[in-house]
Amino acid sequence: MLNGELPSETATRTMDIALILHADHELNASTFAARVIAATLSDLHSAVTGAIGALKGPLHGGANEAVMRLLLAIDKAGADPAVYVRNMLAAKQKISGFGHRVYKTEDPRATHLRRMSQQLGKDAGQTKWFEMSRAIELCINADKKLNANVDFYSASTYAMLGIDIDLYTPIFAISRIAGWAAHVIEQLDDNRLIRPRAEYIGPVYPSPWIPVAERL
Ligand SMILES: CC(C)(COP(=O)(O)OP(=O)(O)OC[C@H]1O[C@@H](n2cnc3c(N)ncnc32)[C@H](O)[C@@H]1OP(=O)(O)O)[C@@H](O)C(=O)NCCC(=O)NCCS
Repeated sequence: MLNGELPSETATRTMDIALILHADHELNASTFAARVIAATLSDLHSAVTGAIGALKGPLHGGANEAVMRLLLAIDKAGADPAVYVRNMLAAKQKISGFGHRVYKTEDPRATHLRRMSQQLGKDAGQTKWFEMSRAIELCINADKKLNANVDFYSASTYAMLGIDIDLYTPIFAISRIAGWAAHVIEQLDDNRLIRPRAEYIGPVYPSPWIPVAERL
């Protein structure tokens, strides 16, 4: 449906595995958002819509698109991938597809996506995206002690499947909707409004009141 061709067996299996790997992942940001919305007794559609909003951010599921845009930028510049990302690190920029709030070792999903990215590249005789990704990974591992997360090799895997960049994060959403829905059902099974408290850490005494006309 994406490109008018029947996918190969490897491509089909790759997409199946990618969808399985993305289906659920505990209380990640989008799932937490879905549960917060469900807990107000709003409806499933609203919970999923809110979750999609959280997912699209580049610190969450939007990272897979950002990784591919980085690979394309390096390719366009004809740059050495390691030099390119070292310059980004020197400019205090984050490298999408690395780091994780929970995993301090390799994200186990990245292990499968790395293998699939390499295999698809080999099968197609186009190893550019995999090799570029691997060079970046080795550099970030060595310099920052950060590991690839699920989004890093999703990018080159989807590129090798001939999928448009704009669809990378929607593919994540298509899969994760199973997890969001399961969490919403679980939330509703024993629901209580999710309402954290905030700790005020501002000035203890009220600031003097200044009339509006006298304010800068
Ligand atoms: C996922 C992520 C948001 C986790 O954030 P976190 O747990 O809050 O980690 P922090 O942002 O506190 O990072 C800790 C340190 O590692 C650095 N770091 C973390 N991820 C980094 C990355 N991808 N590239 C460069 N540096 C990174 C931070 O700059 C910080 O360094 P500092 O202590 O010198 O300031 C973060 O790793 C990130 O932004 N990754 C890139 C986006 C991404 O791939 N998201 C998908 C996640 S599955």
